[in-house]
Amino acid sequence: MDSIQIDGGIPLQGQVKIQGSKNAALPILAATILVRGNSLIENCPKIADVFQMQALLTHLGCKISWEGNSLKVDASGVNGSRMPSEEVKAMRSSISLLGALLARTSEAVMDFPGGCVIGARPIDIHLDALKQMGVVFEEKEDVLYARTTGLEGSRISLRFPSVGATENILLAAVLAKGDTWIQNAAREPEVEALCEFLAHTGAWIEGIGTDTLHVRGVSRLTETKFRIPSDRIVAGTYLTGCMIAGGSVLLKDAPVSQMEAVLRAARSMGVQIQPVDEGLFVQTPDTLLSPGHLKTAVYPGFPTDMQSPFLAAMTVAGGESILTEVIFENRFRIVEPLRKMGADIRVSGSDVLIKGGSCLRGAEVEARELRGGAALVMAALGAVGHTTVTGSGFIYRGYENIGRDLRELGARVYSV
Ligand code: UD1
Repeated sequence: MDSIQIDGGIPLQGQVKIQGSKNAALPILAATILVRGNSLIENCPKIADVFQMQALLTHLGCKISWEGNSLKVDASGVNGSRMPSEEVKAMRSSISLLGALLARTSEAVMDFPGGCVIGARPIDIHLDALKQMGVVFEEKEDVLYARTTGLEGSRISLRFPSVGATENILLAAVLAKGDTWIQNAAREPEVEALCEFLAHTGAWIEGIGTDTLHVRGVSRLTETKFRIPSDRIVAGTYLTGCMIAGGSVLLKDAPVSQMEAVLRAARSMGVQIQPVDEGLFVQTPDTLLSPGHLKTAVYPGFPTDMQSPFLAAMTVAGGESILTEVIFENRFRIVEPLRKMGADIRVSGSDVLIKGGSCLRGAEVEARELRGGAALVMAALGAVGHTTVTGSGFIYRGYENIGRDLRELGARVYSV
């Protein structure tokens, strides 16, 4: 499936179930190699990034099977520490295997990780923290060799609350000798989900959900069953789809409490949002208002992953608005295709200046990264005429079946 085809202009109606969270599932799958036995991961999204992680774990000696959306990982036979290049280069989350592998086998060999092309995405914070815990690194021809004679707890203060680095340190710390403190830890819900999974396996962690995590190493982790929470970014993406196309929808299982900044932004644009028992009920006004100025931030601020979908919505809202990206420096790849669809927007440094009120029209546009690609599909829902979004492989990295989900809401979307 290379492209997604959309006939726009149909207001969305009905309900859709929100899939399990990609950004929670990936580090939790990496964590399963710390358990010398079975982990049952429920509500796991069937997305390309999860399949890549499955391939990585299998390569390292895990036995994996699916039943519906439940994934059973038997990590009793882990016998490798060299990660295969192709998967590592395709997916940035493979970095979370670094801490986990070091904890399990005392060594790890990997290429520098890839992922969406949205900025420099260095890994210095990960490496500095692991060095503090007794890991020695060597780099030869773009391959990273990591070794330890035994992980040791440490007091680690992060210069930035990196999500990936916080997760890596947690993975290294739960079986390390002694106590680890992570100061200025990321507070994203996905970090919390990883902590909860680890706690289910018998890890000792205090301060879950705060910016100071205290881990006391234990000697082993035990088999467990864990349910991946719903994906706040997928819920937010479909919310913007409804904002752009109009209509009213129920986002079933949307993780409302994790979406405050996004819901605040949507409400400021005139959207009626009501948390209900089943999830989130959304009703779009006849005319969307400008939110003024939106700026990305670390959690609980407005998420960088929601920047492109909101950008698409702001192009059709009345008035001028500004969107500032402070987490990643190259995350405006959606601007050019949106202009092709008729949007009046321009980039100025880390800001995008949007003259709203555009009537978007169908076009052939290219997805160049995951969230930007999904945002183009959302834009197309409200565009007049037919849109082809090529490069849909990026979108399937994080959305299980975006066509099926949107068809459930009455949209005319299909993949070819
Ligand atoms: C980021 C997002 C996360 C999102 C994920 C997928 C933030 C804070 N993190 O996580 O919410 O789900 O992308 O899109 O919004 N950095 C360094 N050195 C490092 C690590 C990071 O300089 O070793 C910098 C990055 O260049 C970037 C910032 O820190 O500017 C955010 O990085 P981090 O949170 O680590 O990114 P991800 O874990 O990919």
